[in-house]
Amino acid sequence: MLKIVVCVSGGGTNLQAILDAIDNGIITNTQVMAVVSNNAGAKALDRAKNHNIPGILMSPKAYSDRAAFDQAFTDKMVELNPDLIVLAGFLVKIPEQMVKKFSNRIVNIHPSLIPSFCGVGYYGLKVHEKVLERGAKLTGATVHFVNEGMDEGPIIAQKAVYVEQEDTPEVLQRRVMEEAEWILLPQAIDDIANGRIAVVDGKVRRV
Ligand code: GAR
Repeated sequence: MLKIVVCVSGGGTNLQAILDAIDNGIITNTQVMAVVSNNAGAKALDRAKNHNIPGILMSPKAYSDRAAFDQAFTDKMVELNPDLIVLAGFLVKIPEQMVKKFSNRIVNIHPSLIPSFCGVGYYGLKVHEKVLERGAKLTGATVHFVNEGMDEGPIIAQKAVYVEQEDTPEVLQRRVMEEAEWILLPQAIDDIANGRIAVVDGKVRRV
């Protein structure tokens, strides 16, 4: 059984997709042991509560400086000791010491086709604003392992989504979620839980 901790910052629709996929048997051999949020007001925490999953608040604001938060966050994860940490709309940079401790055991969903529209400053709705500003005709979502860089770890899966002429950032965000994110992330977790992927020479391979 793969024990996972899901980290969230806001609405938690990707968390909901994971919980639904476990309930529906789309994800197997997996249990969500806790949901961690940096934001006390995150709707995602209500979704966890509705599923009787413990919610844990880890906010940088509660610490004297970033180093103190990074250490406390890492210590909390070591204490929980999940098999996999899932960043599902988690808008806090993962501390380097945590990446080292959980090498190839942290995955992230990003709402674009990496390496386009990613890196520092590209998160949430901003990604879709930039896609529309650039006039891109195709976008999508990516699930990848987390390394020390920003959106730079080995890519697990990607799915493309068309941009429509009349799209607003909100409309495009919703389509990327519906057509890509809510499908890709559960699939990737199921693949990991059932030993279907491995990282070889820095790249993800199906095994
Ligand atoms: C999702 O679109 C996710 O891909 C994005 O934040 C949104 C969270 O929505 N993540 C990033 O931008 C990370 N760089 P949700 O809280 O409803 O799942």
